[in-house]
Amino acid sequence: MPESRMLWGAALSASQCEGAYAEDDKGLSISDTVPSGRRDLTKRYPKPDSQHYYPTHKAVDFYHRYPEDIELMAQCGLECLRFSFAWSRFFPQGDELQPNPLAVQHYDDLIDRLLAKKIVPIVTMSHLEIPFALTEKYGGWENKEFIRCFLRYSQFLLDHYGDRVKYWITFNEMNMLLYFPCTLGVGVDLTEKPEQAKLQALHNMLTAGAWTVEYAHALNQEIQIGAMIAYSPIYPVDCRPENVAYAYALERNALSVADVLVRGKYPGTFERFVRERGLTLDRMPEELKLLAKNTVDFLATSYYCSNAASVDSTAEKSSGNLFGGARNPYLEVSEWGWQIDPLGLRYALNYLYDRYQIPLMIVENGLGARDQIVNGKIEDDYRIAYLNAHLQMVKEAEADGVELLAYTMWSFLDQVSASSGQMSKRYGLVYCDVDDEGRGTFERIPKKSFYWMQDQLKNR
Ligand code: BG6
Repeated sequence: MPESRMLWGAALSASQCEGAYAEDDKGLSISDTVPSGRRDLTKRYPKPDSQHYYPTHKAVDFYHRYPEDIELMAQCGLECLRFSFAWSRFFPQGDELQPNPLAVQHYDDLIDRLLAKKIVPIVTMSHLEIPFALTEKYGGWENKEFIRCFLRYSQFLLDHYGDRVKYWITFNEMNMLLYFPCTLGVGVDLTEKPEQAKLQALHNMLTAGAWTVEYAHALNQEIQIGAMIAYSPIYPVDCRPENVAYAYALERNALSVADVLVRGKYPGTFERFVRERGLTLDRMPEELKLLAKNTVDFLATSYYCSNAASVDSTAEKSSGNLFGGARNPYLEVSEWGWQIDPLGLRYALNYLYDRYQIPLMIVENGLGARDQIVNGKIEDDYRIAYLNAHLQMVKEAEADGVELLAYTMWSFLDQVSASSGQMSKRYGLVYCDVDDEGRGTFERIPKKSFYWMQDQLKNR
């Protein structure tokens, strides 16, 4: 395969697929404390108890089944796999001086097996996953101690895996973290100024990311290091100027994090927000210099849906919207209310590339649906239709001149849903026999979409 060709593959995340949450000296992660049922990712949860079920504890058992799963990936023809390491496996308490040797051994084997099958690893260092012990000791990312602990982790990863892993993503969907402060370790209910705590946490995370970029570049020129945002274009519901301006303001807000990652500077609208709210963020001059100097090599994004915005508070709402809120009457929605918009992906890629002029990766794109097994088969034509329409738009964007490094659909296996904790919200090309309460055989069954993807990859 020519080096410059865009890679096609699929994605997974440690806390959503691995399970084995307390095995081989793994520490508790923040995601292991979120029970099933009515999950609220805006608050921090206490340690697990026996009254609740915790879906990440077993997930789909990728931790034990990865050899068989990698065989399936190879059979499908994946060119790359985007996945994450669990920080709480390497550093169970988060602040040890040396990593857990069992974690090193585990991920060594996983990487070697992928490479043996010619599947390029794209690794996320932290995907909605923080050692719980760190949050007990220091609160969340709003505490600068987190920067020091993350650097020990990220530098170890780059030292140890840098010769085998070229593509790195520091953090998953950094702009979503403000909506889900639990994943930043920030207990917003514990502080009087939630905005202050969340934005401080974000700044510290951006700083840790910039240090990591600096370290990676000094270590090995071959390494390509990026970070990830969630991007959903926000359309005004109509051409009423107030709606256009509102959609634009929401869009700028959603991209503030990417502005720092790529341009090395907070945008004016962010500074205005900080000023007008009277926030006093601790942003040291040397940190701001670090951010300016160590911008990312590529920007990774997820794309699931587009959103619409209206200043009219009585306008029909769409659920599943995080950045917008109004219902777009031209689009179908998934069962979870996410507005399906393949053309929006072409728009998004062109928009991001015009704005930032650096290579992009689409590292998540897929459809959450309730799959049914009929006569031992899963005929997920709806997922094929979704993926096919989106992949066409990726090709169009590539033809438009957008530099794309990779497209990794979400997800190779069914996994625990991040927002709902359900197993029944399935995204995989491969069905995993586990239900919402963790019952099942964990058997893997390739769905019709698996064979469809196999064909796409074969005929590139
Ligand atoms: C992204 C996350 O926001 O969306 C993934 O990076 C997540 O971890 C994916 O699984 C789909 O969302 P959900 O809530 O349907 O699992």
